[in-house]
Amino acid sequence: MVGTDAEKPRRAVNSRIAGFRDLEPSERLQKLAEIAGLSQSDTHALRGGGALPLALANGMIENVVGTFDLPIGVATNFTINGRDYLIPMAVEEPSVVAAASYMAKIARDNGGFRTSSTDPVMIAQVQVLGTNDPNGARQRILERRDEIVATANEKDKVLVGLGGGCRDIEVNVFETTPVGPMVIVHLLVDVRDAMGANTVNTMAEGVAPMVEELAGGPVRLRILSNLADRRLARARMELSIDSLATGEYSGDRIAQGIVEACAMAIVDPYRAATHNKGIMNGIDPVVVATGNDWRAIEAGAHAWAARAGRYTSLTRWEISGVGTLVGCIEMPMALGLVGGATRTHPAAQASLALLDVRSAQELSEIAVAVGLAQNMAALRALASEGIQRGHMTLHARNIAIVAGATGNQIEIVAGELAESQDVRVDRAKEILRRLTGE
Ligand code: MEV
Repeated sequence: MVGTDAEKPRRAVNSRIAGFRDLEPSERLQKLAEIAGLSQSDTHALRGGGALPLALANGMIENVVGTFDLPIGVATNFTINGRDYLIPMAVEEPSVVAAASYMAKIARDNGGFRTSSTDPVMIAQVQVLGTNDPNGARQRILERRDEIVATANEKDKVLVGLGGGCRDIEVNVFETTPVGPMVIVHLLVDVRDAMGANTVNTMAEGVAPMVEELAGGPVRLRILSNLADRRLARARMELSIDSLATGEYSGDRIAQGIVEACAMAIVDPYRAATHNKGIMNGIDPVVVATGNDWRAIEAGAHAWAARAGRYTSLTRWEISGVGTLVGCIEMPMALGLVGGATRTHPAAQASLALLDVRSAQELSEIAVAVGLAQNMAALRALASEGIQRGHMTLHARNIAIVAGATGNQIEIVAGELAESQDVRVDRAKEILRRLTGE
């Protein structure tokens, strides 16, 4: 399979690394390299600092003046379908990686995440205008389904050779639009390990003349849909109520609080937007670290969340008949392992090596598992002490750095800031002056 070392034996990693967060970044990287068997070039790429050479960056987009760095952290403790993963996350927000790792630890003690996914089927749309008989046009197009599928597949024989390709078509009619009747043809294309945008766009352009002739009206748009609702990934976890207890809050109280918080996101779009943002806090960093198109993932996620006409939660939390807390997520996940930055960006390649995934479907299932973990972290905190305390503790480290703290000063300054619940740069500078005696 292109881009995935399908035959290479997989190294079993243990994602539970004691004391990982207490190490220095270089020690963490060293440990990861040992555990995951990373090559020197992958280790170098994950370390950053020039990992994306300017010449390469210059070939990726236009008017390049430099590159932009983000921290890459590694979420630990994940076990998905019985297999452990160390998950790279490129993100600027404090507490995201810690929260994912912590929730993954709770999930792990309860058997971990269970995931599944559909085949990686993308949709390409072909828009036809100006038909007087849009329903007749629809049927004329469907009568020639096999030829349209074959014409599309002519455009990517490599994909067909890999077991993918255009599988089917569907045709939607909109009898009234601001510009008259519209017929929209969908090509349903199994893109295997690609994100698939280029492939399906080429196919849509390839079938356009035939569609135009059959429909009796001009074709205009020929482009993929980011509402990738034929390419869904799912994750589920089931937790004992006792494992949810935190501080003075009982497991029952937390479980009930999580269910109630989710209920609010299900009915109220204002809450759903924030709830889903929390989920994307987990998903986007995996998408970015692996060089995938996070705008496409965001577009798909929110369109899917609004598919019933009212924007709602991407997750569901319930208390099962046997008294466990069950969390579920299902959403579009158009991720690739081949093509684009996944191939060209050395850090994306290194991230994929760390994950050691064998298919885009496997990657998509990991991404939604992280999203579910992130959602659990937010709801668990919101259902108990609120998010500010934990968030501020981590935010305090940033503020300490901004104030000029270095080395072990960072922890001392951050500790005092968090303790006083007064996390401001001028206060951090004050503490720093006291520490250094200036
Ligand atoms: C913050 O980045 C994300 C949260 O607001 C998510 C949520 O409220 O569920 C904490």
